[in-house]
Amino acid sequence: MIIAIDGPAASGKGTLSRRLATHFGLRHLDTGLTYRAVAAALLAKGLPLGDEAVSVEIAHNLDLAQMDKSVLSSHEIGEAASRIAVLGGLRQELVELQRRFAEKPPGAVLDGRDIGTVVYPNATVKLFVTASAQARARRRTDEMIAKGQEANYASVLEDLKRRDERDSQRTVAPMKQAEDAVLLDTTEMDIETAFQAAVDIVSRA
Ligand code: C5P
Repeated sequence: MIIAIDGPAASGKGTLSRRLATHFGLRHLDTGLTYRAVAAALLAKGLPLGDEAVSVEIAHNLDLAQMDKSVLSSHEIGEAASRIAVLGGLRQELVELQRRFAEKPPGAVLDGRDIGTVVYPNATVKLFVTASAQARARRRTDEMIAKGQEANYASVLEDLKRRDERDSQRTVAPMKQAEDAVLLDTTEMDIETAFQAAVDIVSRA
C-alpha cells in the first residue's frame, strides 16, 4: 500500500503524512529531506549547486537513516534543495532511493512534490494538500516564532511564493496535482480537521 501526498511548502502535508503513517501502520518518508540532504552536503563542501555529477554521487551514497530533520530544516538548505531539484539526473537517483524505501512491507506514506505524478503514478491513494499562500506563510511564521527564531510574515510569504513558482515551473517533474489525486485544501482547517478528512479519503480508497 502506497499513500502519495504532494503539495507546496507549509501546506501541512508533512504533519498529515506522519500521522497517516502512524494511523495506518505504514512507514513514512519525507522525500523533501532527500533533496535537502544532498543540498546540505554540497553547501558543506562549498561545491556549486549546479554540479549534477557530484550531486548524483552524493545521492547515490545517501543513507536515509542518517538524515536529521532538525539540521536539514533550515531556510538556507530549503532554498538550495529547490535549486538542485531541477537536475534530472539527480531526481532519477533520488526517485530510485525513494522507491526502494517504499517497496519494503507493509508499504509507505511518501510526501513531496512529484509522488503521485512520477514516483508512484499507481499509488493506492493520492492526496494533493494545499492552502492559500497567506495561510501557509502565517503557519510557517508562527512555527518559527514558537521555536524562538526571528520571523517576518512578509518575507516568509515572499519566500514561499518564490519556491512555489520554482517548484511548479521547472521542466522535470514539476509540482502539480495528479489527475486522480484528491484535493485537500486546508486553508480553513485546523490540523485535527485536516487529519480526519485525510483518514476518510484514505479509508474510502
Ligand atoms: O518539502 P521540502 O520543503 O522539504 O522540499 C525541499 C525542496 O525539495 C522543494 O522546494 C522541492 O524543490 C524539492 N522537492 C522535490 N520533489 C520532492 C520533494 C522535494 O522537488 N518529491
